[in-house]
Amino acid sequence: MLQNINPSQTKAWEKLKQKAEEIKASSLKDLFKSDPQRFERLTRNHESLLFDFSKNLIDEEVLMLLKQLFAECGVEAGLKAMFDGEKINETEGRAVLHSQLRNFGARAIEVDGASINEPIAAVLEQMQDFSDLLISGNWKGFSGKTIKHIVNIGIGGSDLGPLMVYEALKPYHNHIKCHYVSNVDAAHIHETLKDLDPEQTLFIIASKTFSTQETMTNAHSARAWFLRSDASEKDIAKHFVAVSTNREKVVDFGIDPSNMFVFWDWVGGRYSVWSAIGLSLACGLGYKNFEKFLRGGKGMDDHLAQSEFDQNIPMLMAGIGIWYVNFLGAESEAIIPYDQNMHRFAAYFQQGNMESNGKDTDRNGDPITYHTGPIIWGEPGTNGQHAFFQLMHQGSRFIPADFIAFAESHYPIGDHHSKLLSNFLAQTEALMVGKTAEEVEAEMQARGDSPEQIAKVSPFRVFKGNRPSTSIVGAKSTPEALGALIAAYEHKIFIQGIVWNIYSFDQWGVELGKQLANTILPLLENQSEEVEISKDASTKGLIKYINRLRGKNN
Ligand code: F6P
Repeated sequence: MLQNINPSQTKAWEKLKQKAEEIKASSLKDLFKSDPQRFERLTRNHESLLFDFSKNLIDEEVLMLLKQLFAECGVEAGLKAMFDGEKINETEGRAVLHSQLRNFGARAIEVDGASINEPIAAVLEQMQDFSDLLISGNWKGFSGKTIKHIVNIGIGGSDLGPLMVYEALKPYHNHIKCHYVSNVDAAHIHETLKDLDPEQTLFIIASKTFSTQETMTNAHSARAWFLRSDASEKDIAKHFVAVSTNREKVVDFGIDPSNMFVFWDWVGGRYSVWSAIGLSLACGLGYKNFEKFLRGGKGMDDHLAQSEFDQNIPMLMAGIGIWYVNFLGAESEAIIPYDQNMHRFAAYFQQGNMESNGKDTDRNGDPITYHTGPIIWGEPGTNGQHAFFQLMHQGSRFIPADFIAFAESHYPIGDHHSKLLSNFLAQTEALMVGKTAEEVEAEMQARGDSPEQIAKVSPFRVFKGNRPSTSIVGAKSTPEALGALIAAYEHKIFIQGIVWNIYSFDQWGVELGKQLANTILPLLENQSEEVEISKDASTKGLIKYINRLRGKNN
């Protein structure tokens, strides 16, 4: 059972508020000085991954109070409720069991009185058979040629997960090239398909609901493109498969139900990469690698279930995040992978985190009086250094950041990797230690700058430092490591949602825009008098302006 407790009414919350004043008056440099064992004390390992929490503005007492906060807010009961398959997504009446998808039957779970382990295993087998057929060339297109390209059509969780993982695991790509089309902007589907051969292209239409406007529009355009070749309707079965929970709609679209890979309403869209939504990964990386990815996720689930708070990586990530958002005033969190292939990782967790915890109503239905989910953003290093790091180092905002790096590169070319790693280490060091006025002046003097020049410029060259970061270092970017990392972030989000007393698995906030877009579409497609009455002056004015530019007059 979820315990619907207002965290700001707990004893721990009050103490954390007081503690924040003390921490604000101290510095990371001092914390390191006063504890030579700080690195050892504040790093945690899982498999090859090391999570260095030592460059965070925390001490033993902060952790102890966060542990108390978790106890007062019922985090343990919340985790149990999730893993046991209780319908904790109460606003949609659904269980939250994405972790069961990577569990390989280790736990027996029932939903509505029926075991879900067998259906999960059956879909994995179907994915394996299908990907094997495709990779071996035994699945032929309508003209007898093998499939060389997969186009995954989906959006949000039906796109970001597979796309992010496919990119992150580039060194594991096989000869089948995966493409991802999400935006309803025709540019996306046109630019993707323009160089593809319909005879050798297979479409995966990925949509939990099979009714999302963007996905269905792109799917219909893909079908029209396919049928403009020598193919006929009956050939669709060889070139279109569906991943969905909605069999009826899949059949309505014209996809053979034997080409459908199911998942279930207890898998949230943004947590669905572990389900058949990962079909493109099984095909483009090989099923074995997809399975390794799932096993990596399971490893983190086991770690979460078996570790005490002090050793528990997702709990520490969650607690430190809450500490920054609610007590030290952070509005955002940056995720900076020093791994070019992980260039969509921050975007993926923008949805994962912001769609889950961007809520202003608590589980009792009351307005929230404290901050919930932070703004998530980021880009790979070193590129970010030449874009937004200026603000991270010298801006007026407080931005905790996660840095992710791997010791060994898949690309042993010259000294690229040492340079990449030296930048990662240097940035976290610079954020923490900064540069004092005395250091700047000494540096300028040594360079031979005049006293006038030093007096004028030195203030601008000072770095206040004391900016926190967590470093996450793995041995090598592998499917297992990525699976574990994603699961850690997922659990962090879940735990934070429990503490913030919000429902992390619905997303009502995206509905209004969808509804209004449906009322605007006819006003753009047909001339309609309705525009005169139904909209506010700005929206009405914009519609009229756009229609005029498009040669329509209403
Ligand atoms: O953006 C809202 C949302 O419902 C997401 O949660 C989901 O991942 C996405 O749309 C796509 O939905 P579907 O898989 O049903 O097409």
